[in-house]
Amino acid sequence: MSILVTGGAGFIGRAIIASLPESVPVTCIDVLEAQAHAGRTTFPAWLSDRARCIRADIRDTTAYADTLHDVDVVIHLAAQTGTGQSMYERSRYVGHNVDGTACLLDALALHAPHLSRIVLASSRAVYGEGMLRVHDGRLLPAQRTLDRLSSGQWNAIAADGSPGDPVAMQEDFPCNPTSVYGLTKWWQEQLIVDSAARSGVHHTILRIQNAYGPGQELRNPYTGIIGIFCSLLFRDLEIELFEDGEVMRDFVYVDDVADAFVRAAVGDRPPYSIMNIGSRDAVSLRTLVDRLGAAAGRTPRVRVSGRYRVGDIRHAIADTTRCDAWLQGGPRTSLEEGLRRYWAWFSEQEALATETLRESFEEMERSGVLRASEDQ
Ligand code: UD1
Repeated sequence: MSILVTGGAGFIGRAIIASLPESVPVTCIDVLEAQAHAGRTTFPAWLSDRARCIRADIRDTTAYADTLHDVDVVIHLAAQTGTGQSMYERSRYVGHNVDGTACLLDALALHAPHLSRIVLASSRAVYGEGMLRVHDGRLLPAQRTLDRLSSGQWNAIAADGSPGDPVAMQEDFPCNPTSVYGLTKWWQEQLIVDSAARSGVHHTILRIQNAYGPGQELRNPYTGIIGIFCSLLFRDLEIELFEDGEVMRDFVYVDDVADAFVRAAVGDRPPYSIMNIGSRDAVSLRTLVDRLGAAAGRTPRVRVSGRYRVGDIRHAIADTTRCDAWLQGGPRTSLEEGLRRYWAWFSEQEALATETLRESFEEMERSGVLRASEDQ
């Protein structure tokens, strides 16, 4: 058996490669993009020792086609991942995520005769706003219009205009992405499903919720809020919560994500082709900050700003029934424990420069993605 990991030098890719059985040969393709790797142009020494590392954009198939002849399993992670950024860098997101996946599949069809499995890192972003349970018990798709957001009406309403309660998203609920990033992840899924149907290659699509953990690139302002919030808390600066601070997310610890990928790649074939990978514990951003303060032993300074990011989802809650059955309900890292580990690691790192963070916010403001509601 031989495994190819695209995007293998990223935060999740490294955790996966470190957890794969040592007896399995691994090839890692990664472009080492400046934003995600803070300008580092070489692979970490341990990764070069563990895997054959190729620095290449996956669209440049000539750079890696001749390494595919013995590949049995592909774990496909290479992608751009910033939801906000995708709303004003559409072409870059579509190029890397959609064209990149198409190029990879073309190269595999031509050069990987032993390919038997492909595991895709998809995202919760494919669901968009998700579904609401309305007063009579029906489930209806949720939506948030710009008009409502601009007047500070944050909660999604059902397609028929009525209010409702968000429900945990099951994998067979309809996908209705609200961001370019979510659209590209949905396209990736479709490309994989289509090619698997034609080739007979087994596919598993893992829809990751908000992954966090040691190893996240703190100098990348698009890397996710836990790194940003830690940097601000560390410097005793104000943490800005968008909307009313009641946005919900499911934060899943990186080792638990890596565990799912390793099992999908080298374990028995998973019983489902699409699975949510979450923590079972979605929380509001206010609760996240409280728990982070407790883990750090500090008191966060919080400003609920009433600003909003176009393309953001209000409540991201995952139904993890499939994943729980597959992993036999195995232990998953609680948010409290994950944040304790994160803070311990973070305290040893060079945190995100607040200047870089400010620039990323200004970029989103200029492009109309980060906006203030009218009552602000
Ligand atoms: C994240 C991931 C995405 C993944 C998805 C799955 C990142 C960069 N993106 O998107 O790759 O597929 O989860 O659910 O990790 N916010 C604030 N204050 C800030 C910054 C952000 O309140 O200073 C809010 C955002 O508006 C958003 C929430 O925090 O509502 C989370 O934002 P973010 O960490 O960027 O992640 P997602 O958009 O959920």
